[in-house]
Amino acid sequence: QGQSDYQLPLAGRTVTVSGGGTREPLDPVRFLGNRSSGKQGVALAVAARNAGATVRLVAAHMEVPAPAGVDLVTVETALELREAMLAAAADSDVVIMAAAVADFRPAEISGTKIKKRDDTADPVISLVRNPDILQELVEVRDHAPENQASRRSQLIVGFAAETGDGQGDVLTYAEAKLKRKGCDLMVVNHVGTDKVFGQDSNSVVILARSGAEPQLAAGTKTEVSAAVITRVGYELNHVSP
Ligand code: CTP
Ligand code: CA
Repeated sequence: QGQSDYQLPLAGRTVTVSGGGTREPLDPVRFLGNRSSGKQGVALAVAARNAGATVRLVAAHMEVPAPAGVDLVTVETALELREAMLAAAADSDVVIMAAAVADFRPAEISGTKIKKRDDTADPVISLVRNPDILQELVEVRDHAPENQASRRSQLIVGFAAETGDGQGDVLTYAEAKLKRKGCDLMVVNHVGTDKVFGQDSNSVVILARSGAEPQLAAGTKTEVSAAVITRVGYELNHVSP
């Protein structure tokens, strides 16, 4: 039995995935960055491609190569990622924010290399907040004109890295984050310094804004991504109007 495209769960759909980690420049040679490897974003892009979607991968710094068969847009900073995601979202059925976005960026970027000097005090880096891209994508979607039904039914997926602390556990924080951001699905990772970043394996919980039971998925990032994309297909084909 041959399998035609139309049988694939995301055939005819456009999926935009962000991956990797942003880098926020301090001067021409230095940046503030994070430990995201890009593996999760790449695995999601591959899973969406294999599910029949047209895939755009908006990649901040990644340590792994981009996969074949996806449109690649590379960015450096959170502000560049924001621009690229807002542009890509305009014609996407699904938007997945798997990138590790710097919450803050240096308030000033030195045009020349910062020098160590004996005659002045050691420098202090002031930070300013970056925009919340996920939240903005949700706002733009929710304010799309009534006649843009496809835009208004766009499915938006966030990822949450939580450690839990004395104030609350991982799921409590993640549920609050889902509500705050307003996305449809939130894929929750439990992170520690030796977990998740750069690792091939992962164990996640998928929370839904609809209040559906939390769904567990474990395995390699490839397996977790397949589960996320299967869930996305289900939401598009069975849940959305
Ligand atoms: N995210 C985003 N823009 C930001 C920060 C985060 O779009 N400026 C997205 C991430 O890509 C992810 C989700 O929001 O999909 C959750 O990221 P996370 O860092 O866990 O959430 P924050 O709101 O930044 O909260 P925290 O203070 O826990 O870092
Ligand atoms: Ca954050």
